[in-house]
Amino acid sequence: MNKKELIKLALDAQKKAYVPYSKFRVGAAVLMDDGKVYSGCNIEIASYSPTLCAERTAIFKAISEGSTKIKEIAVVGDADPTFPCGVCRQVIREFGKDATVIIANSEDDYKEYTLDELLPNSFGPEDLA
Ligand code: THU
Repeated sequence: MNKKELIKLALDAQKKAYVPYSKFRVGAAVLMDDGKVYSGCNIEIASYSPTLCAERTAIFKAISEGSTKIKEIAVVGDADPTFPCGVCRQVIREFGKDATVIIANSEDDYKEYTLDELLPNSFGPEDLA
C-alpha cells in the first residue's frame, strides 16, 4: 500500500462522514505495521460530545481487529490543510510513536510529518512502565 493508495482510502472514507451538525467532512486511513489498512470518517452525535473524529474511528477499528502498531496515517478534511486534533494526536501516539502522518488534499497534494513533529515531548505508554 503506497501513500497515494492510502490517501485514496481516506478520501473514500471522507465521503461517508456523518456530519449533520458541523458539515465538516474528515476521512482517515491507517496503515498498520502488519500491512493491514483501516479507514474511518468522523461521526457526529446530536448531543455533540460523543462525536468521534475520523482518525480515531480508523485507529479504533484497527485496534479492535488486533492490529496494534501504526506505520502511517493519512488524513483528509474540508480545511486546507486539516491537521489531527490534539486528542487524535495523543491516540496516534499511543499506537504509533514513530508513525508518519500524511496530511492530504488529494493523492497528489500532501505533506508528511512525523508524529513527533505534531506532538513533541509527548507522554506515552512507556512513561507508565
Ligand atoms: N474532526 C475530525 O474528524 N478530525 C480532526 O482531527 C479534527 C476534527 C471532526 C470532528 C467534528 O466532526 C468535525 O471535524 C468538526 O470539528
